[in-house]
Formats: sequence, C-alpha cells, structure tokens
Amino acid sequence: MSKNNRQPFVAGNWKMNGSLALVADFNEKLNTVNTRAQVVICAPSVLLHAFKSTAFSIGAQNVSHLDNGAHTGELSVSMLKEAGCEFAIVGHSERREDQGESNSLVAQKAAKCIAGNLTPIICVGESLEVREAGQVEAFVGQQLDALIDVLSIDELKQSVIAYEPIWAIGTGKTASPEQAQEVHEFIRGYFAKVDAELAQGLRIVYGGSVKPENAETLFAQNDVDGGLIGGASLKAEDFISICHAAN
Ligand code: 13P
Repeated sequence: MSKNNRQPFVAGNWKMNGSLALVADFNEKLNTVNTRAQVVICAPSVLLHAFKSTAFSIGAQNVSHLDNGAHTGELSVSMLKEAGCEFAIVGHSERREDQGESNSLVAQKAAKCIAGNLTPIICVGESLEVREAGQVEAFVGQQLDALIDVLSIDELKQSVIAYEPIWAIGTGKTASPEQAQEVHEFIRGYFAKVDAELAQGLRIVYGGSVKPENAETLFAQNDVDGGLIGGASLKAEDFISICHAAN
C-alpha cells in the first residue's frame, strides 16, 4: 500500500485552551474546509458538547484505562463516547511528564479505547537530551515495544500513531522534513517487523510546531500521513490551511 492509499489525518490538540466562543467559531468556519484528510479536534472535555459540525470529528485529550469507579477527575471511554468523541489522544508527552504516565499505562489506555470503539491517537517521541545522545531509535523503540506487547495486530491497525519530538512541541523549532521522515520511516519499519500489512496501512502523523508555512513539506514526506497540531489549531484559519496542506 502506498502513501496515497492511507487517508491523511489532521488533528488539533487544543490542550488547556479554548472557550465556548472558540468552539462556535470552529463550528462555523471549519465547514468551509476542503480536504481529503480526516479532521479531528481534541478539545477540553467540558467544551465537547458544544461542537456541531459534520466537517470534522471530535476527540478527547486523555482517557482513563479503567471502566468506572472511585477515580476522582477521570473520564472513561464510554463517557467520552456519549459526549460524541470518536478519538482520544493517549500518551501525550505533557501527560507522560506531568502525570508520570508510563509506556505500559499508555498501552493500556489505547487498548481500552479500542475495546470501546474510540480510536486512540498514540503519542511517542524523544526529548532533546535523548536526541543529542543519539538514542532516538532506542527510546522510541521502547515506547513502541510497550504498544506491541499489549495490543494485537488488529488493535494496532485501528490506532493512529503521532510522532511528537518533545523538543519541537510549543518551541517553534519544527523538526526538519528529513528529521521527521527519518523517525517516521523507523516507526513504520518497526511495525513492519510485526506485520507488513499493519505497517503499510498505519497512519503516522507528525506533531511539533506545525504551522501553515511548514505543513505542506512535512506532510509530503513518504511516511508522514498528516499532523497533530497544538498552537496553530487554536486559530480556525491556520488550522484550515494546515488541513488543506494534507491534500
Ligand atoms: P505545537 O503545535 O504547539 O508545537 O504542539 C504540538 C503538540 O503537542 C500537539 O499535540
């Protein structure tokens, strides 16, 4: 399967930003988006109810690995489904760092999503320290091993992988198209050792300072199937132009 057979994927991650007014703006403006990409907005959970658009899907930024019970502040897969989510980001580096989420917890969250019919957008990626030590493949490989240990081939086929180098997130320092392609190719090759068909069909998107100005060259790389967009997903016009770049 060539790149052209994988539907491009562009998701916005609003993080702890946004408001009902911004949702209203997106409901109106994103209807003009004209892209062959699948488009998703991952907004704060309390805003999800206000999205009303057929032009894009909505997703959560995190989900519990548990079904229900005494877990104050957590949200389950079934709650997010009822709120209209079709996707959930799992293992974002900000949560791995701030909440100490481990590789195995991230894999459990992804498994819970798939069991409940929510597509996980699973984030991996290295720090600057790891990159400078020449350990990118060893580090990302460990993150992938945890997924391969817990998820079946069929479950992996239902996932989206986001490569987000931590040093490129919110820093304005985008990975060069070559740097992104190098790691995306490594990730696809890693899954190819498990199952060739899985690797060929898997959507691997890039995140880290994607902007309207750099999206097209990043998305044109052979193994880059779209993006996970932070800051630039907070302005409808910028986000739309990034969605168009995925054509
Ligand atoms: P920025 O696009 O703001 O660098 O954020 C990327 C990101 O973390 C998306 O999940």
